[in-house]
Amino acid sequence: MKKIITIIIAIVGVALYTTVNGCKINQEIADKSGAQLWAENCRRCHNAPDPNTHHPENWVTVGMHMQTRAFITDRERDKIVQFLQQ
Ligand code: HEC
Repeated sequence: MKKIITIIIAIVGVALYTTVNGCKINQEIADKSGAQLWAENCRRCHNAPDPNTHHPENWVTVGMHMQTRAFITDRERDKIVQFLQQ
């Protein structure tokens, strides 16, 4: 019986630890600025594009196009697009 309780406590502990840590990482991503996400995600394949290369409206289209390539979330894409539109 004691063994089972120890095992359960260990499993709950690991589950709690990964949940809390997972949220911490998500929070870190959520706290990132558009400029940071742009620098980190958009130069994996090519140089991170200069905000001046496209008209603000067109960045929305480029953002959607590149989201499928960069595997970023909608929020990350929105932040990057907002940064590029400035
Ligand atoms: C997985 C690789 C990859 C990633 C990551 C990536 N791109 Fe691209 N990008 C490409 C390729 C390939 C092309 C050229 C072919 C095309 O347009 O599909 C391109 C073309 C472009 C162009 C030129 C085409 C145009 O419409 O002017 C822009 C601007 C651009 N990417 C912006 C971005 C931005 C912003 C990000 C970050 C959110 C990004 N890219 C992330 C692969 C990538």
